[in-house]
Amino acid sequence: MSRQLQYLVVVLCVLLAVFFSTSLAEDQKTPNAENIDKQVQKFLDSHRWSWRDANVPEVDGKALYDIILQHGYKNALEIGTSTGHSTVWIAWALSKTGGKLITIEIDKYKRDQALAHFKEAGVAEYIDSRLADAHELVSKLEGPFDFVFCDADKDWYKNYLEAVEPKLSVDGCFAAHNVFEVSNIGSGGGRGREGYRGGFGRGFGGGGGYWVGDFLEYVRSFSNLETKVLDLQGSNGLCVSYKKAEK
Ligand SMILES: C[S@@+](CC[C@H](N)C(=O)[O-])C[C@H]1O[C@@H](n2cnc3c(N)ncnc32)[C@H](O)[C@@H]1O
Repeated sequence: MSRQLQYLVVVLCVLLAVFFSTSLAEDQKTPNAENIDKQVQKFLDSHRWSWRDANVPEVDGKALYDIILQHGYKNALEIGTSTGHSTVWIAWALSKTGGKLITIEIDKYKRDQALAHFKEAGVAEYIDSRLADAHELVSKLEGPFDFVFCDADKDWYKNYLEAVEPKLSVDGCFAAHNVFEVSNIGSGGGRGREGYRGGFGRGFGGGGGYWVGDFLEYVRSFSNLETKVLDLQGSNGLCVSYKKAEK
């Protein structure tokens, strides 16, 4: 073999080695987006009618997913995991933005079910699940967060917002579930399931953590937050507040 040919063979081998090692590293680094989509979709399809633990309806899960993708959020916090329906939607979106989620649940039985769901949906690696009382943990978390979903005890929403707002980055979003405009409660002509709407509005107003009370009024009093309740067919009342500036 001539020297030139030997030289060419060596160069070719080096180029091939570089090519294969880079694509192997890429494969290990980037999750296969198509596979995740398929696995999550299969999970959501098979569980569509089996969410029974005060989980968000699909329309609200999809709304959370869209918000995260639209804004490219990466550092998420969820307060109130239950068995993990909203968590799967949030984590699915974060799998695309390269983000991560901390989710908090106080009930061990529900949290264990949620962990199994995360595995089945193929999104476990995006979720840091904490078994804890959010009343204590939320104020201890460092942040910053660019997306917060509040869906635990309703009568504590104001406290959660107060604890989290300083850790929410500018342009970040604080989303709160089961929040209804007072004018819609029990109106009979609105969207969604009216009984449910009333249930989380006034019907359970005697306490027990089901009623958000004057949370809407409170969140709207933050001059640095731009707040609206999303107008979604079948929603259980999703309020989103975007942080426009530091307080
Ligand atoms: C409405 S459910 C959450 C539903 C969930 N986001 C979903 O879509 O699947 C509220 C959950 O908050 C939990 N929770 C209530 N108070 C809590 C607290 N202080 N700390 C942590 N979790 C709490 C409840 O155990 C319950 O599972």
